[in-house]
Amino acid sequence: MITFNNIQINFGSFHAIKNLNLHIKEGEFFTFLGPSGCGKTTILRSLVGFIEPSGGQILLNNSDITHVPIEKRGISMVFQSYALFPTMNVYENIAFGMRVNKASKAIVDREVRDIAQKVDLKEDQLYKKVSELSGGQQQRVAIARALVLKPSILALDEPLSNLDAKLRNQLRNELKKLQKKFGITTIYVTHDQEEALTLSDRIAVFNNGIVEQVGTPQEIYNQSKTEFVCNFIGDINKIEPLIIENSRLKDFLDPQKKAYIRNEKVSLLPLTGSDVVQMKGTIIDQEFYGLYSKYLIEVEGGGVLKTIEKESGLTLNKVGEVIDININISDILQY
Ligand SMILES: Nc1ncnc2c1ncn2[C@@H]1O[C@H](COP(=O)(O)OP(=O)(O)OP(=O)(O)O)[C@@H](O)[C@H]1O
Ligand SMILES: [Mg+2]
Repeated sequence: MITFNNIQINFGSFHAIKNLNLHIKEGEFFTFLGPSGCGKTTILRSLVGFIEPSGGQILLNNSDITHVPIEKRGISMVFQSYALFPTMNVYENIAFGMRVNKASKAIVDREVRDIAQKVDLKEDQLYKKVSELSGGQQQRVAIARALVLKPSILALDEPLSNLDAKLRNQLRNELKKLQKKFGITTIYVTHDQEEALTLSDRIAVFNNGIVEQVGTPQEIYNQSKTEFVCNFIGDINKIEPLIIENSRLKDFLDPQKKAYIRNEKVSLLPLTGSDVVQMKGTIIDQEFYGLYSKYLIEVEGGGVLKTIEKESGLTLNKVGEVIDININISDILQY
């Protein structure tokens, strides 16, 4: 549906996007994930039409839209700050785009009420000023305003970043439901790994204007293609050379490369299989989270590993305790 072909975007001599190639399928929830300043908003703005690329093409259903004006692209965008009109009421905010498009009063009224109902905005809320709404309600207004134009693509730039953690989780679920309900191709920008993993069909991980990996959340997390992706997407251990030299790990790993393992894959419980390497260690720190505990372990012979274990309530390991550490070789990532 959307194809970026060799897209480059320069600001003066600064190369914000360097030769981007990406294909997004119809109906997909596709996320641009990456740290601040990596180019997520820039690439989204080029898709919507606010920025003209310095090179390359953007295709929409195989036709070249690189130089097509914003209003002819059929893409609606929800901005990093909602960019609602604070002095207008909710109704006027949602109706704004349709009015610009010169839709008749009757059609505007029907569509505004219809979309408000679909995003769970109550009738009496339609006549409140947006400044009188909570963050979550404002976010729904911003989404309603985008959806009412019946775009073929919805572009969302960090729409949840202004909200507190609880509301963010709640709206994240609602957003996913809405997206499935409308079946609308959605491009979602975030720097939040958890948001990307829970919402997306596929993720592109950006770093410094390039895409490091494109894949499903599972692929990005379990088979991180680059060192940057493996570090960015979740908590991970870099396995120190000392730990490798002092264990059977050295028989399996490439000594020229760096080795990583996800915290939860370092197990304090026995693992089965021929590729399991066991070591001894001492617990030097424990943090109890209720559902699970996090441990810091000093490996015999030197080096530390972090791990996370689900709590059964019975097998609480204590600081100072000597324990077995089990690692499955296939869980190690090398770069
Ligand atoms: N209009 C502009 N003029 C010059 N430089 C720009 C312009 N817009 C963006 N940049 C630069 O391009 C880079 C990418 O910016 P962009 O806004 O796309 O980052 P981002 O990934 O969305 O970051 P954040 O997560 O902080 O929103 C940054 O280094 C930024 O300073
Ligand atoms: Mg941004």
